[in-house]
Amino acid sequence: MLDIFIINWRNKMRQPLVVGNWKLNGNHQMVNQLILELRQELIGVDCNVAIAPPTVYLDQAADNLSGSCIALGAQDVDINKTGAFTGETSAHMLKDIGVKYIIIGHSERRTFHKESDSLIAEKFIAVKEAGLIPIMCIGETEAEKNAGDTQVVCKRQLDVVLKNVDVSCMLESAVIAYEPVWAIGTGTSATPNQAQFMHKFIREHIAQYSYEAANKVIIQYGGSVNSANATKLFAQPDIDGALVGGASLQAKNFAMIVKAASKNNMTSL
Ligand code: PGA
Repeated sequence: MLDIFIINWRNKMRQPLVVGNWKLNGNHQMVNQLILELRQELIGVDCNVAIAPPTVYLDQAADNLSGSCIALGAQDVDINKTGAFTGETSAHMLKDIGVKYIIIGHSERRTFHKESDSLIAEKFIAVKEAGLIPIMCIGETEAEKNAGDTQVVCKRQLDVVLKNVDVSCMLESAVIAYEPVWAIGTGTSATPNQAQFMHKFIREHIAQYSYEAANKVIIQYGGSVNSANATKLFAQPDIDGALVGGASLQAKNFAMIVKAASKNNMTSL
């Protein structure tokens, strides 16, 4: 019953979103060049798309993106608005320079910066309070997968947010990125079936808090998405686009992924 409800709503409610996470890559010249190429590659493409360059280049990227259909994302944010927090950047500052999406809880931040589930929940709230769209990454490590804990881990990572917010209002405009850690940067993506299984699990879990939010929330897949595997991933009913790392650093590759999402969107209408 729940399946029917969710699948029936799918195409009417959700537009795929493809976001390029540039991570710690780029320089002044490369930002200009890559955005110029992306603008050309994506002319006339009907898909929600964004890029997330390093913080130091966001303002430059905002200028470069002016008048284009490509939105701007940031890779991280602090929970505070202002004050004595050396080195940090607030959601309000990011909004001020034209950022729309903020990635939070990426596995690289969970691992290298020891970010906890509860800190990520606070970041989610800070992003929403600034009127921006969080892209909250969740996903299991290889060890957790091998131990059979994939669903337990993803449920735990989701629940810390879902239990602390008004789900129907806070997830209205929010993105979840399911990124199995073992697939990130390895060249080994989850198979379309594996990814669909988890996306459906995530959507059904959110539906226990709010059916409407579950139907509306964008659930991206991330982890070694490229121009060769994108089409099959996007054909899955619960996969609403992708968070792309390595393949987002080349305009042609990234554009092919965006076009795959756009094509799937057109054919499913
Ligand atoms: P990848 O990275 O596409 O290089 O695997 C994805 C991510 O970290 O978001």
